[in-house]
Amino acid sequence: MTPDATMAATLLASGGKLLIGGAWRDAASGKTFPTLNPATGETLLDIAEGDAPDIDDAVRAARAALDGPWGAMSAAERGKILWKIGDLLLQHAADAARLETLNGGKPITETTRIEVPLAADVFHYNAGAATKIEGSTIPVSGSYFNYTIREPLGVVGLIVPWNFPLLMAARKVAPALAAGNAVVLKPAEETPLTALRLGEIALEAGLPPGVLNVVPGFGPTAGAALVAHSGVAAIAFTGETSTGRTIMANAAGTTKKLSLELGGKSPNIVLDDADIDLAARGALSAIFYNKGEVCTAGSRLLIQKSIREPLIEKILARAAKMVPGDTLDPKTRLGALTSQDQVAKVERYVALGKKEGARLLVGGERATVGDGRGNFWKPTIFDGVRNDMTIAREEIFGPVLSVIDVDDFDHAIAIANETTYGLAAGIWTRDIKKAHRAARALQAGTVWINAYNLYDAASPYGGYKASGFGRESGMAGVDAYLQTKSVWVDLS
Ligand code: NAI
Ligand code: MG
Repeated sequence: MTPDATMAATLLASGGKLLIGGAWRDAASGKTFPTLNPATGETLLDIAEGDAPDIDDAVRAARAALDGPWGAMSAAERGKILWKIGDLLLQHAADAARLETLNGGKPITETTRIEVPLAADVFHYNAGAATKIEGSTIPVSGSYFNYTIREPLGVVGLIVPWNFPLLMAARKVAPALAAGNAVVLKPAEETPLTALRLGEIALEAGLPPGVLNVVPGFGPTAGAALVAHSGVAAIAFTGETSTGRTIMANAAGTTKKLSLELGGKSPNIVLDDADIDLAARGALSAIFYNKGEVCTAGSRLLIQKSIREPLIEKILARAAKMVPGDTLDPKTRLGALTSQDQVAKVERYVALGKKEGARLLVGGERATVGDGRGNFWKPTIFDGVRNDMTIAREEIFGPVLSVIDVDDFDHAIAIANETTYGLAAGIWTRDIKKAHRAARALQAGTVWINAYNLYDAASPYGGYKASGFGRESGMAGVDAYLQTKSVWVDLS
């Protein structure tokens, strides 16, 4: 075994099996697929490849848990188990971070300091939410008593992407369980390891068998089977906008509730009264955090013309220091793209940017780290980008920034909103009126003022326009997994 594979085998006691009904098992077909370390190209582990029969078993196991101990459990008891999962995530944080780094190409410092603690926060927040799910008493006309009960949806399917494997899983699993549902989690085929680790932790925390089933597999097979399953009441999905549309079409036959968190092409505006140093730092972390593989990535930097030269100078000076490196080295700040498909995609867009007349300021090519087998890419910045160019319109999902000049506030807002997406936006200014006017005018589910990429388990998150619908996090994130029953009593 390679050192990578040995480490993965040590960190994941259950191996790469499916978690169904509280037991670890092979796929019904017996098939497996390799999961890789994108920083080295090594195979980490062979993973059981779930498909329709396994999904069906997982849905049945989830149903049995709902009809059994899970459905009978009090909200307070559910909350205690969720709290324990959060605690165990923190207790095993170093190992969870290493697994996430090995499988996703993220620097170990980020997984240790940001992603695993945030995932634990999500469980702790939702642990408290379980006992705050309340109905209401409604003053209806006539001699009747009318009240509402908020109930779980039933079995819900959770389909997550590879860019934040553990955190995305946490943001769906925790509120779904707080609300009393049982779930089938389908991790992305590129990054199944931390979802499986979460399954181990959930069992250790005392979650009854079948409440959380984890079935790795591919989108068009396992994912599609979950979407089409008549026993699944809802699908919560994060991923590409086109996949979201496919899911809507495939779910139509079964009348499921959907919540879709899709792509983005988020504008990050710097006005001429901004703190330039802060804005330069913010512009870079907005696009290069997690190698640009972030749905909210600030991939369009809209700079007011009068400050473009000093701002770009500072951005380039900082970008020169951002060098991809060994993902397990605590000093590394820029990791490896998660798959070879991503490298090919970034390569294609860089070529398109050049062809359509954008000026490449820096990067634009692979970076070599170690023996050169990893998926590393240099931070890339295009200047002179027009908002109608392909690189300004389509989600690249990599470390590629497009700089677009704008004349003034109104022009900035117009260009910012001239996109099919609406996930997030940033604005840098010292003018409090402009900042809040922008917050109202920007068509996006999240707006950051003099900041970027902030998240909290308590704050709602989701898209406008083609970036999807439904909200995650906060109590809005719990509501997504509930339905309301209206009860009438005759008092006459
Ligand atoms: P994807 O949207 O195809 O995959 C995300 C998840 O959906 C995975 O778990 C996958 O197995 C599942 N899936 C795929 N097809 C499905 C289907 N027909 N039914 C049910 N589930 C299905 O994203 P992919 O192909 O991994 O990445 C391609 C591009 O998508 C990226 O380059 C990026 O631009 C974008 N993307 C955006 C994300 C975001 O959060 N905005 C997250 C992941 C990808
Ligand atoms: Mg895909």
